[in-house]
Amino acid sequence: MISPINTVGIVGSGVIGASWSALFLAAGYDVINYDPDPDNASKTEAYIDQAWGSLTDLGLITEKASPNRIRYVDRVADAAEGAQFIQESVPERIEIKHDTYRLLEPALEEGAIVATSSSGLLIKDMQAAWQDPSRFILGHPFNPPHLIPLVELLGNDKTAPEVLDIAAKFYENCGKETIRVLKEVPAHVANRLQAALWREAISLVAEGVASVEDVDKAVTAGPGLRWSVMGPHMLFSLGSGGGGIGTFCERFGPSFKTWWQTMGSPELTPEVIAMLEQGIAEEEQGRDFKALSEERDRKLIAAQRAIKGQ
Ligand SMILES: NC(=O)c1ccc[n+]([C@@H]2O[C@H](COP(=O)([O-])OP(=O)(O)OC[C@H]3O[C@@H](n4cnc5c(N)ncnc54)[C@H](O)[C@@H]3O)[C@@H](O)[C@H]2O)c1
Repeated sequence: MISPINTVGIVGSGVIGASWSALFLAAGYDVINYDPDPDNASKTEAYIDQAWGSLTDLGLITEKASPNRIRYVDRVADAAEGAQFIQESVPERIEIKHDTYRLLEPALEEGAIVATSSSGLLIKDMQAAWQDPSRFILGHPFNPPHLIPLVELLGNDKTAPEVLDIAAKFYENCGKETIRVLKEVPAHVANRLQAALWREAISLVAEGVASVEDVDKAVTAGPGLRWSVMGPHMLFSLGSGGGGIGTFCERFGPSFKTWWQTMGSPELTPEVIAMLEQGIAEEEQGRDFKALSEERDRKLIAAQRAIKGQ
C-alpha cells in the first residue's frame, strides 16, 4: 500500500523537470530534485522563481506551498528517498531512461509510483529495464507543465490496477486535467491531434492556399478559440443545431469524406522549411523569442482564468 503522497522526486530537471518542480511545490509537496548538470540548483531555482508568478495568477499556489521546500541531491537514488511519487524527465533516449530506472528501482520506497514524461517512447520498451514494472506509468505533460493542464496517463497489462487512479488523483490535486490513453500508439493522443492539424497546415502553405500567418490566424481566430472550451466531437454535435452528432454526420459526413480525400501529406523538404521560416519571420513582426514566449504565457494564463470564471 502506498502512503499518502507528501514528497515528490524529480529526476531530470531540464525544460520539463524544472516546470514540474515548480508545479509540485505550488501544490504543497516537498520536492527532491536530481539532475547531473552541475548548475542544476541555480537553474531550477531561477525557473521556479519565474514560474511562481504564473502559478499565483492561475490560482495554483496552495496554502502550505513554499518555493523553498525543495532539496537538491547528487544521485538518482537519493531523489527516491522518502518520495511516494517520482516524475522522471530525463532526455528522450531509451538507454538514458533504462540506466535511470536501474538506479532508481532499488531505492524506491514501498508502493512508490514512477511516472515518465516521455513524449514518444513506448511504455513496453521503457518497462524492459524494470524488475517490477507494476508501478511505472506514463504521465505525459505539455510544455510547460505548470501552465498547460493536460496530463496523459497510460499503463498496460503489467501495471498494478490502482496505480493510474492514484496518479490521476495526484495530478488533479496539482490542478491538472488527466486523460487515459487506453491503447499504446506513437505520440499518445494530443500530439497525434497536433500532428494531424500541422500536417494540413504545412500543406496549405506549401500548396500556396494561404500564408503562414493566415493559416495560424485561421486557427487562433476560428476553431482554436472554440477548442479551448470544447473538443471537436462536442462542437460538431452542437453544430447540428440540436440533432446531435448523428445528425451532424448525416448532414456533413459526405463533405468531410471528400475533404479527407484531398488532405495533404507534405514532406519537410528544405524548400518547404524555407517557406515556413519566411512566413514565421513575417508573422513575428519584429517580436523576439522572449517577447513572443511572454505573450504566449500571458495569454494562456488569461484564457485559463477566463474559462474558470476567475
Ligand atoms: N520539451 C517538451 O516540449 C516536452 C514536452 C512533454 C514531454 N517531454 C519529455 O520530457 C522529457 C525531458 O525532456 P526535456 O525537454 O525536459 O529535455 P531537457 O534536455 O530540457 O532536459 C533533460 C534533463 O535531463 C538531464 N539529464 C541528462 N542525463 C541525465 C541522467 N542520466 N539522469 C538524470 N537527468 C539527466 C539533463 O541535464 C537535462 O537537464 C523527455 O522524455 C521528453 O520527451 C518534453
